[in-house]
Amino acid sequence: MLLLGIETTCDETSAAVVERAGNGSGTIRSNIVLSQLDEHRPFGGVVPEIAARAHVQVLDEVIKKAMEKAGVEFSALDGVAASAGPGLIGGVIVGLTTAKAISFALEKPLVAINHLEAHALTARLIHKLDFPYLLLLVSGGHTQLVFVEAVGAYTRIGTTRDDAIGEAFDKTAKLLGLPYPGGPAVERCALDGDPKRFSLPRPMIGRPEPDFSLSGLKTAIRLEAEKIAPISRQDIADLCASFQAAITDVIVDRVQAALQNLGHSGKTPNAIVVAGGVAANRTIRNTMEELAISLRLPLVIPPAELCTDNGAMVAWAGAERLALDMTDPLDIKPRARWPLDIGPAPVGNSA
Ligand code: KG4
Ligand code: ZN
Repeated sequence: MLLLGIETTCDETSAAVVERAGNGSGTIRSNIVLSQLDEHRPFGGVVPEIAARAHVQVLDEVIKKAMEKAGVEFSALDGVAASAGPGLIGGVIVGLTTAKAISFALEKPLVAINHLEAHALTARLIHKLDFPYLLLLVSGGHTQLVFVEAVGAYTRIGTTRDDAIGEAFDKTAKLLGLPYPGGPAVERCALDGDPKRFSLPRPMIGRPEPDFSLSGLKTAIRLEAEKIAPISRQDIADLCASFQAAITDVIVDRVQAALQNLGHSGKTPNAIVVAGGVAANRTIRNTMEELAISLRLPLVIPPAELCTDNGAMVAWAGAERLALDMTDPLDIKPRARWPLDIGPAPVGNSA
């Protein structure tokens, strides 16, 4: 089964062709990702209007490249998948409408994907992994712990009460004068820093409900930076390292709380999966590996290029759905907000 996948929910324009074999294994035939970073960098964050225009300008070419690299004719596709939300609505409309046009012209099924579901299922593209599993989804817009029981069956057991973890990395970077996007910049600076120099709070640690709260940590960083102003390069490195250490401690504790929570309701995950842009962070990856070993649970973290937004994850989620005949009508709506556990996107004139 060959799927074209289109991703345009934020600042990456991406198209990919992914193959799913009858036994459920996946192969990436192409995965073209065009980042708009340079266009947004002067503004220190993603500007929705610029993002939508950039998607319109490059998407056709990105799709063409993905098809060429895969060596696939449009007629060989079994379906077309696109992220239908959640995300910046202008971009979502561009990707979904393009997918609808291709689906209509080819008379091949359309699969409208929840972007979070695409992150959630990526682990099964690169790994033989059976349901159920515990997913830690950590990106710029989302921080969630989700129990993944089947394609389309997701239970959110924890979420953030304020900022997403990626957002906290981005805001910390901005505060310290580091470039956008903040995550990779903070990680780079932290390499030269002392993670113990500043004793930052670890919000929510020890609480039984597996939720996150990051705004207190962000404020603490600001106060520490103000206390020692003007800050030197070494101060910035130490602040980055201390911030990363605090976030990592929080993540480990919250994952343990989620596992306990699942245990109380008699649910046993086969593995822990980490996904989303923040999963590219080495310290977080290494610490999660240590935790998984101590818990004797397999850990799956996709390679960094499949953790950040990409078309292959959307194509793969499309293949997983198509294999179960879960396709969508051409009047399915794009959605700016779309929690993972509330069911399919609305169609036609429904709300
Ligand atoms: O999943 P993603 O590409 O886009 C969203 O759907 O949000 O995640 C982007 C987020 C940004 O906040 C970025 O700063 C963060 O992931 N990020 C990282 C790293 N690489 C990207 N955070 C920490 N360490 C990294 N190495
Ligand atoms: Zn994402």
